[in-house]
Amino acid sequence: MSALQWGGRFGAAPDAQLLAFGSSIEEDLVLAPFDVACSLGHLEALRGGKIVSEAEATELTSALAAVGVEIRDGIFADYARAQPFEDVHGAIDARVREIAGVAGESLHAGRSRNDQVATTLLLYAIDRAHAGARRAHAIAASLIARAQEELEQESVVAGCTHRQPAQPVLLAFLLVAWSEPFVRAVSRFAAVARAARASCPLGSAALAGSSLALDRKAAARALGFSRPSRNALDAVGSRDVALDLAHAFVRVLIDASRISEELIAWSAPAYGYVGLGDAASTGSSLMPQKRNPDPLELVRAHAARSVGAYAGALGTLCGLAPSYQRDLQETKGATIAIAEDGLATLDAFERAWAAVSFHRERMARAAVAGYTVATDVADALIAKGVTARAAHALVGAAVAQAESEGRAIDARDLAALAAKAGIETLQAPLDARTSIGAKQTDGSTSPDDVRSQIDAVTAELASLARQLE
Ligand code: ARG
Repeated sequence: MSALQWGGRFGAAPDAQLLAFGSSIEEDLVLAPFDVACSLGHLEALRGGKIVSEAEATELTSALAAVGVEIRDGIFADYARAQPFEDVHGAIDARVREIAGVAGESLHAGRSRNDQVATTLLLYAIDRAHAGARRAHAIAASLIARAQEELEQESVVAGCTHRQPAQPVLLAFLLVAWSEPFVRAVSRFAAVARAARASCPLGSAALAGSSLALDRKAAARALGFSRPSRNALDAVGSRDVALDLAHAFVRVLIDASRISEELIAWSAPAYGYVGLGDAASTGSSLMPQKRNPDPLELVRAHAARSVGAYAGALGTLCGLAPSYQRDLQETKGATIAIAEDGLATLDAFERAWAAVSFHRERMARAAVAGYTVATDVADALIAKGVTARAAHALVGAAVAQAESEGRAIDARDLAALAAKAGIETLQAPLDARTSIGAKQTDGSTSPDDVRSQIDAVTAELASLARQLE
């Protein structure tokens, strides 16, 4: 039996090297279980339209089930690699024909690989979007659990902008900030799954629909789609959902990468804010003392790689006329690579993060270094009626003075500032906890607000978890 699903109109076999060049089997083997599901859906369209007999349908169903078992047991990959198949779809079709004999010849009636690939990719996207949502949810939940612990410990840290000390914040506040993008990622993945389920391409055939009376509604229903797709040409040529899936992974990897970067810096002795446990550290082959944060560095690198793969997929689409073009095979490969690597990278990030311990004393000592209470002092002047510009200038000068004397801002500075501003006394936070406690706005780093932030994120995660069930 030929490995190809075509050939009748050709006089000679295709060039073997060109066939190998065009084969996507290595990239799309991961689609195998979804192709079997897709084929079972197409079978419903054939049965509904009485294009196959009930006896043929039964034979095809059990052949597909048998291929499903071979895929599950890992035997099918060897079969698919042993012959020059163009893709996993052709390999499954060939195996079904081997198992079901004559009945197997009818499975592809009214179907093109174009609607088959489009549908299979949507089924894959639903599955991986759920997996991505679960991972992002687990990471957000673990960040929030640590935020709760650090709130109880009242741990403080210098909040930075431009990597320079800016204002003291609760470590819990910072951990809530880290959790928020992962909460949004869960929603983004859920939206991808919803978009994927919206419409089923099966029955679109190559591009124009079919002359056979396929029961498209039965196929869509069997596969859990809301309805059959509206326009066959759009259905075979669109990769919107695949790109949305890739986008969701790229975005959440960027989030993981940014936190990794912070932890890498914090684990260096110059910071000394965190310890990375042995489980998530690596050593040097030369320098005996080294403890390197390789897993977190690799999270950064994988995120960057996914950005490149995503850009490649977007670029591939630019020059394509609407409808199926073979270039689409490459957007599929990129999407699969991004999603598979994305899941592995999120898993690595979660494991590395679990090995992080905080050095609270060290963080607390650094929390007021670099005059991080200066803004509170300026705010105290403003509250006493000094204009914002004047307060900024006065406190700036006080910082310059203290800096030249190599000391922190203290009570003497407050007295001098009061005199300069023509007010009787000035009280302002001079330590991290007072500064943090002075914050009054919603969403701030004050302990009460951080407690409500933790409660709100926890509630949102619980509601998202119910949606993911
Ligand atoms: N391997 C191809 C893909 O994944 C299958 C579709 C081939 N269709 C075609 N008309 N040559 O895109």
